[in-house]
Amino acid sequence: MAMAATVYVNGQISSERDAVVSVFDHGFLYGEGVYEVCRTYHGQPFLLDRHLTRLRASAGLIALPVPYDDTIFLDRIAETMSAAGLLPWKPGGQDAYIRVLLTRGVGELTYDPAACKTPTLVIIARPHVAPPARVYEEGVNVAIVPIQRNAPEALNPLIKSNNLLNNALAMQRALAQSGFEAVMRNHLGELAECSQSNLFVVRDGQVLTPPLRAGLLAGITRQLALEMCRKERIPFEERSLHDEELFGADEAFLTSSTREIVPIVRVDGREIGTGRPGAVVARLRQAFLAAIARHCPVTT
Ligand code: PDD
Repeated sequence: MAMAATVYVNGQISSERDAVVSVFDHGFLYGEGVYEVCRTYHGQPFLLDRHLTRLRASAGLIALPVPYDDTIFLDRIAETMSAAGLLPWKPGGQDAYIRVLLTRGVGELTYDPAACKTPTLVIIARPHVAPPARVYEEGVNVAIVPIQRNAPEALNPLIKSNNLLNNALAMQRALAQSGFEAVMRNHLGELAECSQSNLFVVRDGQVLTPPLRAGLLAGITRQLALEMCRKERIPFEERSLHDEELFGADEAFLTSSTREIVPIVRVDGREIGTGRPGAVVARLRQAFLAAIARHCPVTT
């Protein structure tokens, strides 16, 4: 592991070496848990309220009660960040990667949720590692992979679940094909999303992204990108997309909390648009920086 993490587990904060969860935790046994990833800017978690709302929604979709209010999450995150040396933040200081996990907890070997009395709460805080500058300056190649995104009726991608096998298998394929990300289709052959980010294309000045009904995570950065389009008066639409619309796009990009907005310039090694990051992506990146300045102002 590149950078040491500090971990909160059910009230105990320890170094990454000492952070443990029981093998009888249903998060480990069955992947029964939900999570969120967010990062800080200037020491402040970006859009944490939206992440916690989504965590509750994910938990609701697996019938997992969340016995904590937002203040408790906030306090625990701050405690973990302090222990990690990431708070108090000073200008020029390190920003944090924060992963919050809530699992069904420890219980008998049964799928009956009644077997687990207390959920396990884990918070991982470590210095945020941004993708290299060339990712933003030059754009990336993505691979369309044969692994389909989970069908919503089977395992709804709206659940940000710790059960990440679908995502991991897709990314394995992308890595084998030199892809920065894996683009997945749904069971209907429509483009859905990437293994750990959402997908957008730009065609004739219009920003397009697959609708939630295509089976994808309601990305916080995806939603922010759509809000920025509205604010910047860039036409946008959520609609069903296919391979041809990605290959034939003027621009394309992916979004995530840890990667922000990354220009896509090649798909399966084939250049799209000019082969360089385009003007619409540049405008959205600017708007993104403004949103950070608004939500997480530098305080001294
Ligand atoms: N990934 N789609 C999937 C499948 C994801 O796992 C993620 C987030 C996104 C983007 O969502 P957001 O903008 O809310 O981060 C889309 C996180 C960063 C991760 O797993 O590390």
